[in-house]
Amino acid sequence: MILRLDKLLADAGLGTRTEVKQIIKKHNVMLNDAKVVRPETKVDTEKDILTIDGKSILHEEFEYFILNKPAGIISAAEDRKEKTVVDLIQDKKRRDLFPVGRLDRDTEGLLIITNDGKMANRLLKPGKHVDKTYYAIVKGSLDKNLIKKFKDGIDIGDETLTKEADLVIVDSAPYILNESARSEADMTDSDRAYLDAVHYFEKKGLVLEDHMLGENKVTEVLLTIREGRFHQVKRMFEAVGSEVYYLKRISMGLLKLPDDLLVGQYRKLTDEELELLR
Ligand code: URA
Repeated sequence: MILRLDKLLADAGLGTRTEVKQIIKKHNVMLNDAKVVRPETKVDTEKDILTIDGKSILHEEFEYFILNKPAGIISAAEDRKEKTVVDLIQDKKRRDLFPVGRLDRDTEGLLIITNDGKMANRLLKPGKHVDKTYYAIVKGSLDKNLIKKFKDGIDIGDETLTKEADLVIVDSAPYILNESARSEADMTDSDRAYLDAVHYFEKKGLVLEDHMLGENKVTEVLLTIREGRFHQVKRMFEAVGSEVYYLKRISMGLLKLPDDLLVGQYRKLTDEELELLR
């Protein structure tokens, strides 16, 4: 790709266009073997070798991060008042990152952050939306009939029913809190999500106790949906007389939230993970 030098340096995270002009003026910027002083100099990102004071500058057209979103942060690229999910990514090079889709402020879990608009469109395109699986703790005990209802579609007040969704009522996991000997390797995705839910409630000063699951005051579920309507999961449970107390996205398409990525942590997507999304 052929880019102007100042754009390339700004894209590489070295500063705004005005700031990088100063860098070009004051530092030793070398393109192949020649010193460059003009911000508008054209650089071939595939062939040219660019250095500043001897350090090589690589052009990264796209960046891809996976974040285990914590509650309390908004899913936006930028906001004048509040910290956003993009602000959490400290070692980003690009300034044009955005979250692929949105999770509510109080929802945790898998969020992809990138500047690859084509990939985001592919994942979110209406009609082609990839499967997204959520772990939720919801109010009350759930009738097994709901599994069929969720499959057939729910009226959540939109023009059309929701598309086929897969509901799994998870067996409650009251042993986890007591049995610390249980090894990490034995844990299922919902076991892990349950522990995150316990922390979530603790932070709010609430206690999610095992007996609540036992007495069916709350129920653990996994729900896979294939659309991205506003507050969709919450509205689906409200429409059937329940309420979502805790929500975490645990997968998107073939990509699963990695076991070792704790709430609030992020990392670059690996090539294998990128392949899964493609
Ligand atoms: N559905 C919701 O209700 N909230 C989310 O954050 C994601 C899906």
